[in-house]
Amino acid sequence: MVNRALDVVLLGPPGAGKGTQAKRVAAAFELLHLSTGDLLRDEVTRRTGLGEQAKAFMNRGELVPDTLVGKMLATRLHSQPAALGCAFDGYPRTTAQAQLLDGLLAELNRRVDVVLYLRVEDDEILRRLTGRRSCPACGAVYHTVTQPPMVGGVCDACRATLVQRDDDRDEVVRERLRVYREHTTPLLALYRDRGNLREVDGSSGADEVFERLREVMGRVRR
Ligand code: AP5
Repeated sequence: MVNRALDVVLLGPPGAGKGTQAKRVAAAFELLHLSTGDLLRDEVTRRTGLGEQAKAFMNRGELVPDTLVGKMLATRLHSQPAALGCAFDGYPRTTAQAQLLDGLLAELNRRVDVVLYLRVEDDEILRRLTGRRSCPACGAVYHTVTQPPMVGGVCDACRATLVQRDDDRDEVVRERLRVYREHTTPLLALYRDRGNLREVDGSSGADEVFERLREVMGRVRR
């Protein structure tokens, strides 16, 4: 039997570990890691038209309008080999985005195969996001306590100086959590009803969480 592409959505509140785990899942199951947050930050850094429009929404902790993110995602999906499945990190975040993703994947004869929902409590999220440091050059992500770089403030991989994301300030994190509850949590019921939601406790260490995800992924049929 020929394996078809496997498409995985990582769902969860800001700071749940979607990016951390999506990279690992993508590497282990040979998927493309597709993070709309990373793609948008890249647009902002390059000061593209999209980046200029998205920046204010992101700095306030609000969602970037569906149409802008949808176009960006469609371009990205169409620019890669159709046979390669994706680990979607940060998309979809609204029911309209979920419908768009279904349509884009259907055009490629694919579907959302599994949704990995990382469950983490708010106090842990605040700890994670206020301690997060990111590399502006290569995108590596650290945490000052749980995943510190070898040399303080310096990226292990490319030696660039690590930065704190503008939207990881306490008040913006609280707004992101509010937006998540209002716009994204309805997706849990949507995917649960479809039978492809898998809930995983995301509160323990990153290695332990990944082992749980690997186990779940191992049971997903291609
Ligand atoms: P985005 O970048 O997607 O932010 P997010 O969803 O809020 O998620 P984060 O990146 O903050 O967290 P994460 O779950 O990936 O956690 P991470 O692995 O980094 O989006 C940013 C903004 O862009 C949005 O607010 C919005 O404006 C816009 N946007 C993006 N997508 C959009 C869309 N589809 N529609 C509209 N707008 C969109 O981990 C966090 C920290 O915790 C790290 O320091 C990490 O080292 C640490 N950590 C991770 N796992 C563990 C663990 N198990 N134990 C201890 N520490 C851990």
